[in-house]
Amino acid sequence: MNDLSRKKFLQYTASAGVAVLFSSLESFAMGKDDKKLKVAVIGCGSVSGSYIPKLLTSDLIEIVSLCDIKYDRALERNKTFNVSAKTYPNIDEMLKGEPFDMMITLTDMQVHEGLNRKAIMAGKHVWSEKPMANSYVVGKELLNLARSKKLRLWGAPAVVNSPQFEFMSKKLQSGELGRISSAHGQYGHTGPTWSAFFYEKGGGSMPDLGVYNMATLTGLLGPAKSVMAMLSIVTPERTVDDKGKIKVEAEDNAHLLLEHDNNIISHVMCGFNFYDRFGHQAKDQKLHSIQIYGSEGNMRLIGYDWETNGVAFDTVKTNGEEQLACTDKGGYEWREGAKVVGESMLKGVEPRINVEHALHVLEIIEAARRSQETGMRIKLQSKFPWPMV
Ligand SMILES: NC(=O)c1ccc[n+]([C@@H]2O[C@H](COP(=O)([O-])OP(=O)(O)OC[C@H]3O[C@@H](n4cnc5c(N)ncnc54)[C@H](O)[C@@H]3O)[C@@H](O)[C@H]2O)c1
Repeated sequence: MNDLSRKKFLQYTASAGVAVLFSSLESFAMGKDDKKLKVAVIGCGSVSGSYIPKLLTSDLIEIVSLCDIKYDRALERNKTFNVSAKTYPNIDEMLKGEPFDMMITLTDMQVHEGLNRKAIMAGKHVWSEKPMANSYVVGKELLNLARSKKLRLWGAPAVVNSPQFEFMSKKLQSGELGRISSAHGQYGHTGPTWSAFFYEKGGGSMPDLGVYNMATLTGLLGPAKSVMAMLSIVTPERTVDDKGKIKVEAEDNAHLLLEHDNNIISHVMCGFNFYDRFGHQAKDQKLHSIQIYGSEGNMRLIGYDWETNGVAFDTVKTNGEEQLACTDKGGYEWREGAKVVGESMLKGVEPRINVEHALHVLEIIEAARRSQETGMRIKLQSKFPWPMV
C-alpha cells in the first residue's frame, strides 16, 4: 500500500468513530501493494454456488479455505470452481488451519450465530448471510465483541447497493414525491426444496425473504419505531431433500406493519406459498415489489429489490405521466455483499452496507414474532445511520 492509501486507510479508521482499526488488516497498511484479503467460506450449499464465482472475480480477494460439515460439498465446490483452497469438515479445524482475514458464513440460518462468534473470538472479520444471529440482543453482543477486538462484522443483504435503491432514496430525499405516507414491499415464492432449516424454528420466510424488503423499506424511509405483525403457517408439512417429510415450525406467511418517523407506515408481505411464474429467478420479473406513495408522486421498483429491473414513477412534476428510470443494474448483483465489503476494507473506504442496519432488520423480525405471539404492537430500540444515500 502506498503512503497516500495508507494515510486514507488510517484516516478512515479514525473517522469511523469506533474501534475499527482491525488488527489483522493493519498489515495491509504496512505491507505490499499486492496484499489480498484472505477469506474462508463456511457452508458450501446452494448459495455458495453464487458467492464463490463472484468472489473469484475480485483481484483483491483470495478464497483460501472452504468448509462444510457435509465435507464432500467443500471438495466439490473447490473442484467445480477451480478454487485451489484448503478444505475442512468443521470450523474448529478451519480456524486452526490456513490463516485468513474474513469468514463468509453461508450455512443454515440457525447456526450463523455460533459460527460467527467463534470466528470473531479467533480474530476474524465476518460477513454473514442473514441473519447474523438468532436474536437482536446476541447480534448486538457479537458486534460489540467484534469492535472490542478491532474487527468488522457485516450482515446480508446487499440491497442498498443497487442503483435503483440509490435512485429511489435520492428521489425521496429531494422531496419530489411530496409528503410520504405509505409504502409496501413483497417477496415470495413456493419455498426452498433442498433444506429443512428454512422451515425449522429460527427459520421462516421473514429471515429468508422478507428481510430484503425490510432492509429496502427501512433504508428508504428510515428506521422503524414499532412493529405489528400477523404470521401463519399455511403449509404444515413439506418434503425437502435433506430430511424428507418434515413438520413446518416457522412461519411461511407473514404480514408486517412498520411505523417510521413522520407518521409513515410501511407494509411487508412475504411467504413460502406465493406462486411465481419465474420461480427462483427474477431476471424478467415485472412485478412492482416495492411501492412508495407520497402526496405529490408515487414510485415503484420493477422486479425485486435483490434483482432490480428499473423504477417507474409519476409525480405532479411529470404531469402524472409514468416515467421509467434506472433500467440498468450498473453491475449490481445480490450476491456481491462479501466481495464489496472485503474490497472496501482493503481500499480503506466505508461501504454503504451497514451492520447497524442489518441488526435493525433482525430486531424487526424478532419483534414481528413477538407481535404475533402477544397480539401487541412492539416498540424497537435500534437505529442506524440514515439517510443511507
Ligand atoms: N440459496 C440461495 O439462493 C440463497 C440466496 C440468498 C441467501 N441465502 C442464505 O444463505 C444461507 C444458506 O442457504 P443455502 O440455500 O445455501 O442452504 P444450503 O442448505 O444449500 O447450504 C447450507 C450449507 O451449510 C452447511 N452447514 C450447516 N451447518 C454447518 C456448520 N456448522 N459448519 C459448516 N457447514 C455447515 C450445510 O451442510 C450446507 O451444505 C441461508 O442463510 C440463506 O437464507 C440463500
